[in-house]
Amino acid sequence: MNERILELFEQTPETYVSGAEISRRLGVSRTAIWKHIEELRAEGYAFEAASRKGYRLISKPAKWQITELMNGMKTKVLGQKVHIYDEVDSTQTIAHKLVASGAPEGTIVLAERQTAGRGRMGRSWHSPAGKGIWLSLILTPRIPMYFMPQLTLLSAVALCRAIQKVCHVEIGIKWPNDLLIHGKKVSGILLESSGEDERLKYVIAGIGISVNLLEEDYPEELRSIATSLAIESGGKVSREGLVQAFLLEFEDMYALYLEKGFAPIRLLWEALSVTLKRPIRTSTPSGFIDGIADSLDNTGALTVITPNGERIKIYSGDIEL
Ligand code: BTN
Repeated sequence: MNERILELFEQTPETYVSGAEISRRLGVSRTAIWKHIEELRAEGYAFEAASRKGYRLISKPAKWQITELMNGMKTKVLGQKVHIYDEVDSTQTIAHKLVASGAPEGTIVLAERQTAGRGRMGRSWHSPAGKGIWLSLILTPRIPMYFMPQLTLLSAVALCRAIQKVCHVEIGIKWPNDLLIHGKKVSGILLESSGEDERLKYVIAGIGISVNLLEEDYPEELRSIATSLAIESGGKVSREGLVQAFLLEFEDMYALYLEKGFAPIRLLWEALSVTLKRPIRTSTPSGFIDGIADSLDNTGALTVITPNGERIKIYSGDIEL
């Protein structure tokens, strides 16, 4: 039915079609039409509704431009194999399955839309169609499992530098890996791994970037805490260009990390951080800890100095600024 509704709008581009007219031509109730229009909106179609006039199709969801993406890919390994989907539950789930069927390091999964996008700490990730970069990257580093937090921080550095280069916005990293513009979250990173005998078998780096979402694309509860690159930079951003820039930055950082260890990445992270030297609060199973975020240690943990001078390390979780 959704396809028939779209056909109808495409026959008369730019003009309003009333609910009564759609209902008469397709033989369904007006309530059913409203439901289908809402479904199409969730898929990324934008409609304008005007009382007494009906609906007008304003724009269709963007689609990944595969040729443009591959032609501009300057990496040697990352992104040389790309799997693109219209709709998935989560690109992470697809990537885990691809590893099981032998996909090599550097393979990426992209989707227009995720119906069950996963965030950190069991949260969900808002992933509307055609508006963002919902990407999972397969990595097979030969490092011990307890180095995983370092890879998380590395991902944040690569992403932050790529966004700076492409969008020229003032962006910073909130520990461990939230990217903020003007205090609002624009991107998040979720690393999932599998290991054996303390060694990592593989890591899936899940990257969510809110690229071209407009305010109305966010549910009410996210509007005060989330933003997009389009909102902050004042124009549409090429998703293909940003994926290319991110993978190139990541490839460079990853080579540096595998050769020289975490020390150079730590310096880059510290330079991009909006957390260090500021008061923060974190919650632990035994209550809140307040203090000043002081530095990163060599494992990637955050050192916090409490009001009584105690130095506490935070290894995981969230902080409030
Ligand atoms: C966070 O909570 O900040 C992490 C969000 C990570 C979202 C990305 S979108 C692509 C990949 N697929 C998922 O289901 N999650 C990650």
